[in-house]
Amino acid sequence: MGQTSRGLAILGSTGSIGTSVLDVVDRLGGRFRVVALAAGSNVPLLAAQVEKYRPALVSVGNKRDVVRVRSLGKGWGLKVVHGPEGAAEAARVDGADVVVSAITGMNGFGPTLEAVKAGRRVALANKESLVVGGALIKREAVRSGAEIIPVDSEHSGVFQCLGRGRRSHVRKVILTASGGPFLKTPLEELKTKTLEEALRHPRWVMGKKVTVDSATLMNKGLELIEARWLFDLDASQLDVLIHPQSAVHALVEMTDGSVLAQLSATDMRVPIQLALTWPERLDSGLPQLDLAEVGRLEFFRVDERRYPLFTLAKQALAAGGSLPVALNAANEVAVAAFLEKRILFADIPAVVAGVMDGLQPRPADSIEAILEVDKDARRQARRHLPQR
Ligand SMILES: NC(=O)c1ccc[n+]([C@@H]2O[C@H](COP(=O)([O-])OP(=O)(O)OC[C@H]3O[C@@H](n4cnc5c(N)ncnc54)[C@H](OP(=O)(O)O)[C@@H]3O)[C@@H](O)[C@H]2O)c1
Repeated sequence: MGQTSRGLAILGSTGSIGTSVLDVVDRLGGRFRVVALAAGSNVPLLAAQVEKYRPALVSVGNKRDVVRVRSLGKGWGLKVVHGPEGAAEAARVDGADVVVSAITGMNGFGPTLEAVKAGRRVALANKESLVVGGALIKREAVRSGAEIIPVDSEHSGVFQCLGRGRRSHVRKVILTASGGPFLKTPLEELKTKTLEEALRHPRWVMGKKVTVDSATLMNKGLELIEARWLFDLDASQLDVLIHPQSAVHALVEMTDGSVLAQLSATDMRVPIQLALTWPERLDSGLPQLDLAEVGRLEFFRVDERRYPLFTLAKQALAAGGSLPVALNAANEVAVAAFLEKRILFADIPAVVAGVMDGLQPRPADSIEAILEVDKDARRQARRHLPQR
């Protein structure tokens, strides 16, 4: 990559990842120029971003906000669009060399697919895209030449360990998990854990959905499915270790017994910057890892009695087809209900298990099939929500 500035589209610019991306953009001086932003309903923050970065295109979640945002960009002919089609337009905007996909959940899938079809470098934070549409996205990436670089810290770690090495030399890929806020909670107390407690993550500050998924370990389950597609691995080659210090993000076991690890400070800006600038590694003043300060690194196997959703995710990974789509949809419905305090923490796995129970995998590698399974599973999940 030369010194010329590269165009950047940020989908989910007002979120935890999106704002970190903009911080990295600021640190990198003029290397990146923001050409498009897409967000949901946080219009005050989006407005401030529009005024600062002056993109050519902005997508807002709701039509009612279009006029307000458009009025900010009269000076440079800002185009403002809205809704899912607007986010998709931002994903394929002219002039974007890199598209950051950081909208939460299934809503990020369509725009990610658009960015891939447009042949962009996709800095992928939205793990749900590969969970529901891994086969389709990989197929489209081959067709368009799109490059998918992971933003998730664990996948960035695997990506870095694999380097340009031979895939046939990889025995196993291990993602680490902090274990979330309930790693040491007595099992019988898990039922009554509150939303506030679930949102108190010991290591990472993230959006609410992914923070709850970290407490249930569903996040790690989704990440296993994401890794299966990103690195073209079998389910049997993927594993997870609990590592409370979150300094080692991933380990790659080689056929000769060597184990490569990637370590960095617990700060998402490190993998974000790498996804933007790869193969360059730039010094933008991001925090360095001080191992003497971390002191010790611990690793444990996952206790699946504590994390039933992790078990369900592994089953969906092994079965493939429609099951990861249904798993993700059921989980999104259950987590949304928990975030609205309509159900208890222990209801989340129960709702997902209710949907997955006895479900047979069917092919889901077209957009129509994926959306159909997603819709069905959401309907089922709503039926399984307890009335409290
Ligand atoms: N945070 C992390 O450290 C982290 C790490 C690895 C992977 N990820 C993944 O990255 C993604 C984003 O996570 P996050 O923590 O940044 O979430 P977040 O803080 O909740 O932000 C989500 C972003 O998506 C936007 N959004 C939500 N629904 C939308 C819709 N229908 N249309 C357009 N924009 C929409 C939000 O806009 P408004 O706020 O304006 O409504 C916001 O900008 C998730 O898939 C997560 O799993 C996150």
